[in-house]
Amino acid sequence: MKVSDTLDETLKKALEIVVPDEEEVKKGKNAERIIRERLDKILKGRDIEYEFVGSYARNTWLKGNLEIDVFLLFPESYSMDELEKIGIEVGKAVVDDYELRYAAHPYVHGFVEGVEVDVVPCYKVKDPSKIKSAVDRTPFHHRWLKDRVKGKENEIRLLKGFLKAGGIYGAEYKVKGFSGYLCELLVVFFGSFLETVERGKKLSRRDVIDIKSGKIRKGEKFFVVDPVDEKRNVAANLSVDNLARFVQRCRQFLKNPSLSYFLPPRLEIEMDEIERELDRRYVLCFTTYKPEIVEDNLYTQLERAGRKIFEHLERLGFKPLREHHFSDGKKCYVLVETEVCELSVVEKRLGPLFEDEKNVEKFLRKCKERGEKPFIENGRFYTYSERKLRKAASAVIEFASKEWKAFGKNLGECVKEEFSICEGREILKLAENREFEVNVAKFLGLIPDTGGVYDN
Ligand code: CTP
Ligand code: CA
Repeated sequence: MKVSDTLDETLKKALEIVVPDEEEVKKGKNAERIIRERLDKILKGRDIEYEFVGSYARNTWLKGNLEIDVFLLFPESYSMDELEKIGIEVGKAVVDDYELRYAAHPYVHGFVEGVEVDVVPCYKVKDPSKIKSAVDRTPFHHRWLKDRVKGKENEIRLLKGFLKAGGIYGAEYKVKGFSGYLCELLVVFFGSFLETVERGKKLSRRDVIDIKSGKIRKGEKFFVVDPVDEKRNVAANLSVDNLARFVQRCRQFLKNPSLSYFLPPRLEIEMDEIERELDRRYVLCFTTYKPEIVEDNLYTQLERAGRKIFEHLERLGFKPLREHHFSDGKKCYVLVETEVCELSVVEKRLGPLFEDEKNVEKFLRKCKERGEKPFIENGRFYTYSERKLRKAASAVIEFASKEWKAFGKNLGECVKEEFSICEGREILKLAENREFEVNVAKFLGLIPDTGGVYDN
């Protein structure tokens, strides 16, 4: 495959990657027909309506990612309990191989004719400002976008594909990227994929994109005003780092357009190189079991755990550089690199200023108890005391044993039960899949991670 192409050629070829083929479309239509039949039968004579929403209903789903979202609209007279109970009952009757998933309410996920389907109950409210939970907004999103995306479906798919290949598609906590809805709004706002990328390369973290008024103004943070609810930031889950990656991806793509921007990155990682780096640097990996909780919740807790470990090492003087946390579905990992691996056996302890007679006395008493010989420097008392935890790894072990509650509710329980610490090239033995190695390589800075496409 030729690496560099003209923009036009690239976009034309990219369409083949992002637009579903006839077979996939047929598969969707067939499943839709069956879902409608089943729902019409189940809901007959009831005051519950249904609506197809999301990317399937708008014909904007990414090739290979066919998934049908059906919402059940309940009158507000139903209680939350009734809505949940009936919602699940109806969902179960619609799909095969169901499982319960959790958003604002539990909902049913399953398959119809081999197509993934979500059946989500929500309230039918008059006005999006009167919603009871976030899912009640979704039907309004659909009605707002439905006609506005007409003719732009493939432009939206190009944007989704461009972001997905860059690892920044999806608003879930694990990714902190662009949601499908955000992609659709951006293409509607800017006009096309190319216009989105051209304007995208100039975006700043202070931009407020007001979709409805068609204007961009400056604000406190990156904010995309939801056209159906002006208080809601559609980009609330987009991290500033992923906004930066997007901007950089746009810049590099326009400079050197290529199909690689729509394909999963070809990461050539040299195991020798990772091992070499792990040997000469100070990296440790904290491991514990994965609690049985939903992914967004898990990543919130993992982020907290990573931050706590980092801050603890920082406080003790190990000079941590970066922290990275992830899960492989079975276990959870926090990688930390420090500049310092082992601290001196002595610690310089700060005492009072010489003028503060009372505290000087107290300080001297304590020094004597410990057999320390204090000294004065720049008019202040100090002492050398023996350090208990000299190694970064021992500091983390002590911290996790005592402060397991700091790791988040469910993760903390796992840490309390069991955790382990591993250092250097031993870390690679934990790997159960290639993603682990990619995570380590990125963490060590052996793979660029700035949003663009790179030749390895
Ligand atoms: N939605 C939302 N905010 C989220 C997730 C979902 O408002 N964080 C709403 C949007 O209106 C979205 C719909 O729920 O269109 C369906 O969500 P989802 O399936 O996650 O996204 P899609 O838009 O269908 O995009 P994709 O092609 O990725 O499925
Ligand atoms: Ca969807």
